[in-house]
Amino acid sequence: MPPEQRKIVVVGAGSGIGAATAAHYHRAGDFILAVDLRPGDTPASRHEQCDLRDAAAIDELLKRIGSDWDVLAYVAGVPGTAPAYDVLAVNYLGMRLMTEGMLPRLREGGSIVTVASVAALGWDQRLEALSGLLDATDIETVRRWQDTQDPNYPVYSTSKQASIIYAKRLAPAALQKYGVRINTVSPGPTETPILADFETSMGKDVLDMVKATVGRHASVDDIVPVIAFLASPAARWINGQDVHVDGGFVAPMSAGAPIRL
Ligand SMILES: NC(=O)c1ccc[n+]([C@@H]2O[C@H](COP(=O)([O-])OP(=O)(O)OC[C@H]3O[C@@H](n4cnc5c(N)ncnc54)[C@H](O)[C@@H]3O)[C@@H](O)[C@H]2O)c1
Repeated sequence: MPPEQRKIVVVGAGSGIGAATAAHYHRAGDFILAVDLRPGDTPASRHEQCDLRDAAAIDELLKRIGSDWDVLAYVAGVPGTAPAYDVLAVNYLGMRLMTEGMLPRLREGGSIVTVASVAALGWDQRLEALSGLLDATDIETVRRWQDTQDPNYPVYSTSKQASIIYAKRLAPAALQKYGVRINTVSPGPTETPILADFETSMGKDVLDMVKATVGRHASVDDIVPVIAFLASPAARWINGQDVHVDGGFVAPMSAGAPIRL
């Protein structure tokens, strides 16, 4: 292995943003472990199938892959059209188990980047409401928490809010103990297969309005360089941040009326 080659785990590498992330690093000559539920044809050095809803499968995966990794990119996700248990299991708990399992397997100077979403906007108002979910470290507790929620609550946004809050809470200790930074990237609507599900769960009119406001949906090539930057040594003092990659759609929502030019 050439000395500059990095070892990258991309979780959710089978499609969309994850596949593009793996391809990006593969093109750069890095060693890529591509993890997904489905058998993948994503360009990678090694493929592993893992169902992120299954804690035992994650545990087995972690044992198989060893250590000395540079980056964990947790990109896997399911939309709000999936069963609520699955949304919380893949988008939140699976991410948490992979993150905690990978921390001792990453080299000092390594980095974890989780893909959240602009749908998590308002996460800072939800610390109290999500405390039970944020305390959960196993699927039974996550399911019990889910069972107490209103049937129509926005489970996808909630899973992404929990991901951002979790990353922010863990990031200082991860850097101090392991020398590993943790950040999240929150895309706006992005042209991948999941977008059709978002049109169903969030409403096509909402997504069309976002598109009209910023001019287009993102492509994976808008998102991947941001993941790569946060994962790189160039971002060595950025820790515990959530970066919106949405063409600026969300920015005025927390800053008051947009200035018109
Ligand atoms: N595309 C968008 O508009 C958009 C916007 C904001 C955030 N996101 C987030 O970006 C991430 C990537 O989504 P995408 O747009 O590339 O969607 P995608 O559907 O193309 O890819 C998601 C990947 O996750 C994998 N996955 C799902 N369930 C799994 C499981 N149980 N075990 C293992 N792998 C599993 C799928 O097999 C798939 O390869 C997701 O976390 C999504 O929530 C997407």
